[in-house]
Amino acid sequence: MAKPAGLGSINGAHHGGANNKGRRGARGRAAAAPRVTLIPGDGVGPEVIGAAVTVIEAVGVKIDWDRQLAGAAALRRFGSPVPDQLIDSLKSTGVALKGPLETRVGAGYRSINVYLRKLFDLYANVRPVITQAGLHTPFRGIDLIVIRENTEDLYAGIEHQVAPGVVESIKIITARASTRIARFAFDYARKHGRRLVTAIHKANIMKLSDGLFLKCAQRVARDYSDIAYQEQIVDAACMRLVTNPRAFDVLLLENLYGDIVSDLCAGLVGGLGFVPGANYGKRGAIFETVHGTAPDIAGKGIANPIAAIKTGALLLDYLDHDRAGGRIRAAVDTVLRAERTLTPDIGGKASTGDMAAAVIRALK
Ligand code: NAI
Repeated sequence: MAKPAGLGSINGAHHGGANNKGRRGARGRAAAAPRVTLIPGDGVGPEVIGAAVTVIEAVGVKIDWDRQLAGAAALRRFGSPVPDQLIDSLKSTGVALKGPLETRVGAGYRSINVYLRKLFDLYANVRPVITQAGLHTPFRGIDLIVIRENTEDLYAGIEHQVAPGVVESIKIITARASTRIARFAFDYARKHGRRLVTAIHKANIMKLSDGLFLKCAQRVARDYSDIAYQEQIVDAACMRLVTNPRAFDVLLLENLYGDIVSDLCAGLVGGLGFVPGANYGKRGAIFETVHGTAPDIAGKGIANPIAAIKTGALLLDYLDHDRAGGRIRAAVDTVLRAERTLTPDIGGKASTGDMAAAVIRALK
């Protein structure tokens, strides 16, 4: 698999926050363990993040974890879903491994994920969607990178009731955010030897907002003559993704389309239990799976930990421990190819812990 983007290596920004300066580049010389904020999250979060941490420990990378609560767990404990100590920790470490956080439908506090991404300006959400060795899925050889703008669009959450029965929700698209995510996508493509960026939009209907997003992508594309660029309307792109996913390479999307399309893409490679993710900004990163809290299976010990384990591998890449990240990915492949230890979502009977233990045994 192509090495996922450590933003530092793409855009020249350093990897972590203040306390992590000078701690990376650990290969070949002794360096203090990097300090990383660890947020177990809600629902299946503690189960799958716990699995990811045991695998990281087993691969031999020392991390100084700063455990923090967020979301529903923090609300119960501290009366706030984003306690001050969480924000202080993220400011200090600049990097986190985070479990999913509960956001209630139609009520409750606003998404803490969206809040954290905005607060730390983690503008680029990157989700590698790659055929998982050993899994029997309708398509082989899928190798897509979903790059989603993370800070604006309808996710700005600006909504109000105009009159009883009439609600307005405002979609914000700016040239600044559209240009920087387009540049991120092209830089990513160039760095990882990818050939095609597809901007996905609905500019036939949202002529101004999605039109601006496209204009910015077109302008950026002109600076990258080595990478092909195309555009597709989101509905047609979804149809094409489920009929000919190999026609795509790097997908560039606004926030809402990116959220929806990345779950669709997860379905192409075995489901939400397999797709890792990362949110990158100029000054830090938060690593998290695509999947949510999975309330229907939370607490049963049967969540598939592979997405979280692969998210842990992305974190190791970012911390310049990419050899260890590669060993984890290879171990995951070995376990799934063997088809002996599988969680119920992929037809097995293994527990989350069984799967993590199998990955640890397969580490070379
Ligand atoms: P979900 O991803 O939690 O679950 C969708 C379906 O996939 C469920 O049937 C679930 O059992 C299954 N699934 C998810 N992860 C799995 C895993 N690791 N192993 C096996 N099966 C798995 O999405 P849903 O139900 O829409 O959201 C539940 C909650 O999660 C909501 O409060 C939502 O806001 C939150 N959420 C949080 C995210 C984050 O913190 N980054 C991302 C997505 C949702």
